[in-house]
Amino acid sequence: MFARITGTGGYLPGSPVSNDELAARGIDTSDAWIVERTGIRFRHLAGEGETASRMAEIASRAALEMAGMTADEPDLIIVATSTPDYIFPSTACMLQGALGNKGATAFDVQAVCSGFVHALAIADKFICSGSHKKALIVGAEVFSRILDWRERGTCVLFGDGAGAVVLEAADTPGILSSALHADGSQVGILSVPGQIHGGKVWGDPFLRMEGQAVFKNAVRVLASVAEECCQAAGMRSGDVDWLVPHQANIRIIESTRKKMNLAPGKVVITVDRHGNTSAASVPLALNEAVRDGRIRRGQRVLLEGVGGGFTWGAVLFAF
Ligand code: UT7
Repeated sequence: MFARITGTGGYLPGSPVSNDELAARGIDTSDAWIVERTGIRFRHLAGEGETASRMAEIASRAALEMAGMTADEPDLIIVATSTPDYIFPSTACMLQGALGNKGATAFDVQAVCSGFVHALAIADKFICSGSHKKALIVGAEVFSRILDWRERGTCVLFGDGAGAVVLEAADTPGILSSALHADGSQVGILSVPGQIHGGKVWGDPFLRMEGQAVFKNAVRVLASVAEECCQAAGMRSGDVDWLVPHQANIRIIESTRKKMNLAPGKVVITVDRHGNTSAASVPLALNEAVRDGRIRRGQRVLLEGVGGGFTWGAVLFAF
């Protein structure tokens, strides 16, 4: 039993917001600094009332349509998010309700920016076990709501959006391999170290990051997990047709690409136009490259995520 991706979808809220617009809003930054240090030129920011589940629904409907599937067909719904609508119930249940789907298994996955690759690897295992046949897997984030807009070192980096895929049981692969990892000794380098307690926020409700520590860890783990995932499928990482990495920083992506011995034209890049949309970044980039015809049927695609936890992982599949 194998699992194949049969549909992709994406949603970005509102119009692109440029670096100059952020500077004009009073953030002590410049287009030159942001582009040089990160490659980011634009990001999208959710409007009032625009939630993770709402964006997930739009991305999901597009993915279902591509797969030729109605909303009541998925028997598994997984949403990767660190910015859920509520503490509970899960965003996956809210998405399920919005789609009018009844009875599917539905839950959220929390692995921050590597959440989508975690969710996809989990769905693959559900399908390959024979317990489920049609999965909807979504990354949806409104990081703009957990940013400290007074902290220029983080607020310029992130954006909002949602991406989705439909994964179905198939006789041929499909997903070829996956690898997921975490290092809980590193929780402090990227976190939102707060909680709701007795009706009040305890701790700090904003994203805090030791940028250089995250950068170094990301560069170290992304090339090694790419090799691990490819070796498990009997390939070298330099043999993949496409790398769709987490979109946090163009310098991290470039470093990974070079370590993998991949040509520049084999990497899907959206960080310049989306910023870092955390768990949504990989499915948004995948959807873009599928819809514009770059990623074609039969090609081998490596998805990679890295983020808070510290967590990281990769999924290799034949499209
Ligand atoms: O999705 C999870 C994964 N997240 C990531 O992968 C992020 C990883 N980290 C990074 O991408 C980089 O570390 C950053 C882009 C966050 C920062 O780049 P950096 O080259 O590590 O810069 P820095 O933090 O060392 O700051 C260098 C200088 C500082 O000024 P001084 O102290 O040298 O005078 C900062 O105050 O740049 C200053 N700076 C800014 N200047 C203009 C920091 N943020 C800004 C800003 N605009 N937005």
